[in-house]
Amino acid sequence: MLTDAQLLGAAQRFGTPLYVYDAAELDAALARVRNAFADARVFYAMKANPNLTLLRRLRSAGVGFECVSAGELARAVKVGAGGGEVLVNGPAKSAEEYAEGARLGATFVVDRAEEVQLLPPRSRALVRVNPALKVSTHDHLATGAASSKFGVTLLEAPQVLEALRNAGHQALGLHVHIGSAIRDAGDFAAAFSRLTELKEAVGPLEVLDVGGGWSLDADLDGIARQARQAAATFGAQLWVEPGRYLVAGAGVLLTGVVGRKHTGRDFVLIDAGMSELIRPMLYGAEHPVRALWQRGEAATYDLAGPACESGDVLARDVPLPMPQPGDVLALGEAGAYGAAMSSTYLTRPRPAEVLWDGDWQVIRRRENAETIWAAEL
Ligand SMILES: Cc1ncc(COP(=O)(O)O)c(C=O)c1O
Repeated sequence: MLTDAQLLGAAQRFGTPLYVYDAAELDAALARVRNAFADARVFYAMKANPNLTLLRRLRSAGVGFECVSAGELARAVKVGAGGGEVLVNGPAKSAEEYAEGARLGATFVVDRAEEVQLLPPRSRALVRVNPALKVSTHDHLATGAASSKFGVTLLEAPQVLEALRNAGHQALGLHVHIGSAIRDAGDFAAAFSRLTELKEAVGPLEVLDVGGGWSLDADLDGIARQARQAAATFGAQLWVEPGRYLVAGAGVLLTGVVGRKHTGRDFVLIDAGMSELIRPMLYGAEHPVRALWQRGEAATYDLAGPACESGDVLARDVPLPMPQPGDVLALGEAGAYGAAMSSTYLTRPRPAEVLWDGDWQVIRRRENAETIWAAEL
């Protein structure tokens, strides 16, 4: 973990708000995944953080990519990934995404029966199954509930596999992804066990892809054990698609204190908000907050961003010792879905991103007004 002095040094050198990543933490997370899921193929869900430098690092460690847009496919190509290393996923794929996936020779994750006809000829494909389960995460992060838009039902899955084969595609196997930031290994066990109910109907498979969705403190070994058992049921190779688990802990968002304000609550006003980190507003996500200064007794504050939205609060009831303008806070576990979901709302330049790997490397320059309006006429 980067020290307070290192983080302060980065804030002084590159300014705030700033995304800071620690290469050692990224490598350690990948090692934990490889350890737990020993024989599995790892496809990084680049939606969590698509920065090219991070993608290159993961690719050189033998990781493939799960992509859900033409832009993500372009990133995979940009870092030199071949078709065997790429999955094309998503509930509403475009013609461009089918064409580019076919050009690469990527594997498609079929999300509805109609896709069998839409796939380019002789595609490699998995069928995404919706196990119809309620899981322990925010509703917006749950993707395996009966009411969610993803996948085909357990009943439909054997027919879709059969339809793929009949249409001349290579039906590799099944796919399941029940959501994101899930702590409870029991949720995964329930989903995998639903899939194994299909054994009779589908017979042996080449691949079982169990997605990602593991929270940072999930019991990875327990999830891996269940996943291996499920794969063994089908005689299949196990594939996984972690996003958050690989990058969340490697990143912090540094934000500067602008001032304090008392209304019905005590606020610390900061220079980052919903445009830099939307997860608290979108999912009620809680990010650990570290003050990079020490000064007297702590009182509790809400951290409010600069947007004209009452929901623009990045954390509540944070104990801080007499914050002053110019102090710097580090919001932890911000490496996933932080920079990736940042926006230029209010024509606020997206922050720079820097990587510590023995020295500092700027891996994304800070935007400015000119770069924001570059495509406007
Ligand atoms: C199909 C699929 N795979 C993998 C992931 C990665 O999830 P997480 O970042 O929670 O590991 C997602 C996230 O949305 C997903 O939709």
